[in-house]
Amino acid sequence: MNFELSSEQKEIKDLAFKFAKNEMLPHAAHYDEKGELPFDILKKAWELGLVNTCIPVEFGGTGFSTLDSILITESLSYGCLGMNTAIMANDLALLPIVIGGNDEQKKRFLTPFTESYKMAAFCLTEPGNGSDAAGIKTTIKDEGDHYLVNGQKMWITNAGFADLFTVYGTYDSGLKHKGISAIVIEKDTPGIEIGKPEKKMGHSCSDTRSVTFKNVKVPKENLLGKLGDGWKIAMKTLDHSRPMVAASAVGGAQCSFDYAAKYSTERNQFGKPLSGHQGIQFMLAEMAMNIEAARLLVYKSAWLLDQGQKNTQLASSAKAFSADIFMKVATDAVQIYGGYGYSREYPVEKLMRDAKLIQIYEGTSQIQRLVIAKEVISTL
Ligand code: CAA
Repeated sequence: MNFELSSEQKEIKDLAFKFAKNEMLPHAAHYDEKGELPFDILKKAWELGLVNTCIPVEFGGTGFSTLDSILITESLSYGCLGMNTAIMANDLALLPIVIGGNDEQKKRFLTPFTESYKMAAFCLTEPGNGSDAAGIKTTIKDEGDHYLVNGQKMWITNAGFADLFTVYGTYDSGLKHKGISAIVIEKDTPGIEIGKPEKKMGHSCSDTRSVTFKNVKVPKENLLGKLGDGWKIAMKTLDHSRPMVAASAVGGAQCSFDYAAKYSTERNQFGKPLSGHQGIQFMLAEMAMNIEAARLLVYKSAWLLDQGQKNTQLASSAKAFSADIFMKVATDAVQIYGGYGYSREYPVEKLMRDAKLIQIYEGTSQIQRLVIAKEVISTL
């Protein structure tokens, strides 16, 4: 067993970390306050090859492994969780094409993302169906020479700026998950209505909206796989993307820890630095211990995929564990800062707000436990 990253992986991680510290972190509070997408920063990340890491070399991508991708995600999240969400949402939307598309579709839909900076949106969740993804109501009807898409999607990251939407709908709701299909819809297709930006607790600079499809005619060649293949495509996509979300939690937790640890050496109470008090030392020790455990779990969940092995259980374990750790670490970081931690003038309250979403999106912490339990029980 070798815990050492390759020299190439160290370089990738270093590049992304330097970008996060120099280009993202100094602007994170500003864009959080404004609730605005930092388009220039995202474009710079794209120019460095840190965006759309899932695109294979044959289609102009970097050909990064899953482990490479999560090293980037972990580093970028150190800079800003909201900006990372905008970056990561591209992979979430493009992965179904990588997983379920044919070569013609990959060339047509993925290659433009390697030629200029564009955004994409993954459209699974609906107003009435979040955790129960198999119950989605959006319909994809075969109309002979095209498909007709009707329905509403909710909490869609990048929706206001996306060139491409990867949309899930059912062609027969009686078939439950077996009726779900995945289709790519380009932004200028008539019948797409984009909602207003949602005002959120955290990840404020990322764009989140509803998307409504009203009698949207989509060419037949945009369907990924066959009608009914959408569920497996969605689940496999989540097996890839959940380690990335988990890595973002590790990056955010590390950032929270670094702020809190530094502050604890600078602030004196009762005649010595906070770090000299055992109560604070125990908190710091707990944080460091949990972050490292989360990091190892996340790396393994990605490494399994790179070995061609099923990672469903570990992807969910990594996502649930890291999200919960990030929430705890960020909350404790605020605690160590005391009154200052609760102020917007200091960075840790943003991290605490950002942490909350990781326990919710791409499958709540409860759904991850459900997946883990199903996997564990199925092997008995
Ligand atoms: N790979 C392949 N097949 C899988 C699979 C996987 N990882 N997971 C499940 N399946 C298969 C099962 O084997 C089963 O197959 P059969 O047809 O042979 O029986 C089938 O799929 C149905 O599985 P379940 O019985 O487990 O389905 P379910 O309806 O009970 O529950 C769930 C599934 C895991 C709870 C699923 O609904 C789920 O993951 N929900 C959460 C949805 C989610 O994560 N949404 C996030 C949206 S993205 C986001 O947040 C956006 C953003 O902008 C960041």
